[in-house]
Amino acid sequence: MKFFIDTANLKEIQEAQDLGVLDGVTTNPSLMAKEGITGKENILNHYRAICNIVDGDVSAEVISTEFKGMVEEGELLAALDPKIVVKVPMIKDGIKAIKYFSQKGIKTNCTLVFSAGQALLAAKAGATYVSPFVGRLDDVSTDGLKLIEQIRLIYDNYGYATQILAASVRHPMHIIKCAELGSDVMTGPLSAITALMKHPLTDSGLEKFLKDMAGKW
Ligand code: E4P
Repeated sequence: MKFFIDTANLKEIQEAQDLGVLDGVTTNPSLMAKEGITGKENILNHYRAICNIVDGDVSAEVISTEFKGMVEEGELLAALDPKIVVKVPMIKDGIKAIKYFSQKGIKTNCTLVFSAGQALLAAKAGATYVSPFVGRLDDVSTDGLKLIEQIRLIYDNYGYATQILAASVRHPMHIIKCAELGSDVMTGPLSAITALMKHPLTDSGLEKFLKDMAGKW
């Protein structure tokens, strides 16, 4: 399973990259705003900076909600770097834009997906990635992981190439469950990724090994 980090914070992206397990980055307008990135040139430069840190795909979201605007923005973003994946919301014009981009060889990430039907449409339009929001479904008492399972089944039934990008991942158990369910990618915060390495028996075991070998090396 590929690991993407869900942030626009350059320090965190660098930290995850240095760990050696990072396969890409997802951003969204809220994450960009959180870093104080505003204005077209600053936004474009920030995406360039992210692409310079990571080796893999970097999702950059369009703001327009109508086809023409999405195409203009998406083409501008895609021209920044071959790593850029144009992130498009699951709305009517978004589906049209995904189809357009896929025919032009521009990678896409269909975002704000909350149902199997939406995921099916994204695959039919030729999306590179589909982003079901696991955590936000959990937030409204709906099983987000169940959606990953459903989409996996549907995509495997028909051999769709669209990769399932489990998004809105909040903690290590989400990551483990997504891996069990065969999600192609997960995107989450650095805290969820680093939490995977923690186990009290690792800490106590290491402490004892070091104590037993103290002064003997
Ligand atoms: C998807 O790519 C989104 O950026 C993200 O995963 C949303 O996560 P949140 O629900 O924690 O905001």
